[in-house]
Amino acid sequence: MTDRYILAVESSCDETSVAILKNDDILLSNIIASQIESHKRFGGVVPEVASRHHVEVITTCFDDALQEAGIEPSDLSAVAVTYGPGLVGALLVGLAAAKAFAWANGLPLIPVNHMAGHLMAAREQQDLQYPLMALLVSGGHTELVYVTEPGAYHIVGETRDDAVGEAYDKVGRVMGLTYPAGREIDQLAHQGKDCYHFPRAMIKEDHLEFSFSGLKSAFINLYHNAQQKGEVLVIEDLCASFQAATLDILLAKTKKALAKYPSKMLVVAGGVAANQGLRERLANDIIDLDVVIPPLRLCGDNAGMIALAAAVEYEKKSFANLDLNAKPSLAFDSLY
Ligand code: KG4
Ligand code: ZN
Repeated sequence: MTDRYILAVESSCDETSVAILKNDDILLSNIIASQIESHKRFGGVVPEVASRHHVEVITTCFDDALQEAGIEPSDLSAVAVTYGPGLVGALLVGLAAAKAFAWANGLPLIPVNHMAGHLMAAREQQDLQYPLMALLVSGGHTELVYVTEPGAYHIVGETRDDAVGEAYDKVGRVMGLTYPAGREIDQLAHQGKDCYHFPRAMIKEDHLEFSFSGLKSAFINLYHNAQQKGEVLVIEDLCASFQAATLDILLAKTKKALAKYPSKMLVVAGGVAANQGLRERLANDIIDLDVVIPPLRLCGDNAGMIALAAAVEYEKKSFANLDLNAKPSLAFDSLY
């Protein structure tokens, strides 16, 4: 059998990334140009700034990915690209580049859902067994996804308001931490204790939906009230209390999902899957099931994960025409 090489492109938010995957799961290169320094001073991603940066670096990312992999365009079998969900202007830059490259080199185009990419990053870690349950936690999404077979994704629960990463970043901003604040809060949480007892929304309810806006508001109110009264809050304890509430909610709903849907493994993916506290809780609480978490380098946004999801689509010949458009609100189908 001849080797198969897929070039993948990701530009849905603030990372421009191009990767080359050999066969099923060998990532030969995964170039990631991060724009975080440009967005930090605004405390979040500015869409127009993101699009401009993507335009500036995308061709260099293509060249670097091919060079690092030691691959010529003529060696490739397909081009994969994230077409949603994400920022429309940002998505369009990656899409235009991927389509032009696919057309120029006579290659099929594989459209990939960004969240499927996060999930399928786990394939680099180990072979996946189906059906599986996935907890996807990122800056824009918090969802439980039941995967019945390769490439068949069904949402069984999601957040009604804020995504978990978004809640981390917002409370981080209130405490004066730099964006994105998830990693720093995680580190501070390990030095403090859960003494503020924040609410755990809907934790006892049977459904699989999440809510983080009440937790975020409780945190912000406590912080501002203390400031007005001149009270000193221990930042490590605040972070530990926020993280404990977050993890209690994530674990409770994940366990309910596993009880409801027969699953051969649990995949936990997305930027927040980098959280050390979450990894510790999963190791402690989920003992009778294989838990697969992508390696840290594949947790944040990157094109390697898009290539890993695309390999599954390639087998099914799920190719798109060149009129493929960006879908900023692209979602999996829903089972609830
Ligand atoms: O998946 P991702 O890179 O981008 C999106 O698709 O949204 O996720 C970024 C999010 C940010 O909100 C960031 O604060 C959060 O992931 N994050 C973390 C950690 N590392 C990144 N949250 C909690 N703990 C971490 N260690
Ligand atoms: Zn993401």
